[in-house]
Formats: sequence, C-alpha cells, structure tokens
Amino acid sequence: MVATVIDGKAFAETVRARVKAHVARLDRDHAVQPGLAVVLVGEDPASEVYVRSKGKATTQAGMKSIEHKLDAATSEGELLALIVRLNGDETIHGILVQLPLPDHIDTDKVLAAITPAKDVDGFHISNVGLLATGQKAMVPCTPLGCLMMLREHYGALSGLEAVVIGRSNIVGKPMAHLLLKESCTVTIAHSRTRDLPDVVRRADIVVAAVGRPAMVTADWIKPGATVIDVGINRIDKPEGGTRLVGDVDYPNVAQVAGAITPVPGGVGPMTIACLLANTVTACCRIHN
Ligand code: GUN
Repeated sequence: MVATVIDGKAFAETVRARVKAHVARLDRDHAVQPGLAVVLVGEDPASEVYVRSKGKATTQAGMKSIEHKLDAATSEGELLALIVRLNGDETIHGILVQLPLPDHIDTDKVLAAITPAKDVDGFHISNVGLLATGQKAMVPCTPLGCLMMLREHYGALSGLEAVVIGRSNIVGKPMAHLLLKESCTVTIAHSRTRDLPDVVRRADIVVAAVGRPAMVTADWIKPGATVIDVGINRIDKPEGGTRLVGDVDYPNVAQVAGAITPVPGGVGPMTIACLLANTVTACCRIHN
C-alpha cells in the first residue's frame, strides 16, 4: 500500500482564502479590521522564521499585524507590561507570545496575563480548562490544524483508536482533548511509555509530536492507519547544508500507512491558517 498524501499546504490555502473573505466582509459590513500582535523575546532563529511567516500571512489576509521583537535580556516585568498594553489595545484582537521564552521568564505567568478572549494560541489556563471540559474555547492552532485535516480525510472520527505521541501543553494534551471530543478512544504516549511501538500499532490515527527526527518507523504502524506528523526537525545533510524532517520516517511509513502528512507541507501551513482563523474568531467574539 502507498499512502495518500494529505496536502496540508493546499488545505491551508483554502482556509486562508476563507479567512480573507471573512476579513473583507468584516471591513465592508462593520468597518472592523482584525489585528494580531506577535511577541518574540530573544533571537532564536527558528522562532524568528515562524514569527515572520505569521506576520506575513496575517497581512496577506487583510488583517492588521504588529510584531514586538524584544531583546533576550527583557525582564519579565517589561514583557508583562507589554501584554497589559496589548490587552487594552482595541485594534488588537489576538495576542501570541512565541515560545519558548528565555529561562529567566516564567512562561505560565506570561500566558496567564493574556486576556483569554485575545488568547489566539489557546494557552491561557481558562481556555485550557474550557477545552478539557468540552466547552467553547480558543483552541491551540497546531492541534486544531491536525483535527481539520483528520476530519477532511475521514469525516466522522467516532470510535477510532487514536494514539498521540507527546504530552506537551502546545500539541499533545490539547490534541488528545480534541480527539476525545470527536469520540475517539485516545491514548497519550510519551518518552516513558512502555512498549511504545506496540501501543502505536493499535492506532487508526497516529499523531506524532515528539521532536525526534524519523523516530516513528514503519513497523510501528498498523497497515492503513492515518499518520499526522507534527515534527519539524532540522538535520544535517551528508552532502552539506540542512533539511527539514518530521518525527516520522516518511518514505518507509508511507508504504504502510493509508494516509500521511508530509514535512514540510503538512501540519506547518495548517498551524498558520488556524492562527488566522482564531484571530478572526476572537475579533468576532470581542465585537459581539
Ligand atoms: N512555539 C512552537 N509552537 C508554538 C505555537 O503554536 N505558539 C507559540 N506561541 N509558540 C510556539
């Protein structure tokens, strides 16, 4: 069997076109322009790339985009003061603080300072709690993008066995809650899980979010399973330079799986599309 490739890039284009049309209607009918503020502390090159592409996509959708690039030595107090200012800025409907933050800053404290209504990342404890209890929440962008691709591929997910590899607050835990809400039978596996390949082999749906290049191999996959690869790992090429690979051994897993997302061109573009969609949702809720 050769897996169907789930084209996240193409799907993200359709989501972004829908968002752009919604933004145009908000302008025409209500004279409202959604605004997103992205805050980056320090000079992590990968984070800089993400922040730049988020800003560009925001502008392309017709929304206001502001970027705050702060020095790595910025104090927690200075960052909290900026968030208070953005919370009160009526032209800003979404606030995203790029993670990870430098070690001297308490990430939980910073995320808790963002007004939940503007928390387009869905990381504020009140959005986490709403999602965990099955209520209307701001949903983290990466797992939301994964769910949209799964729904597009399967339709209803009810009753399917899902194994999420990785227990992070950004992907693993919210992904598990979303799949539970879809009535999947959900297992969260992680670095301490015993017999991990056996656990993964049970799954109709595998979501790999561990941050280890090509860790998930073909012998872990039930034939016909759907594999969503959240990993973005930069590795050295033997001939020099680097390339991006996911957490899944793509060429071999694609021979066993029924469907698979590529890296790049799978989950990454959907994450950005969902950030734009969350910003429009936040804007509509704030103005209602
Ligand atoms: N770092 C890696 N992924 C994310 C994300 O989805 N949101 C934020 N704010 N930081 C990240």
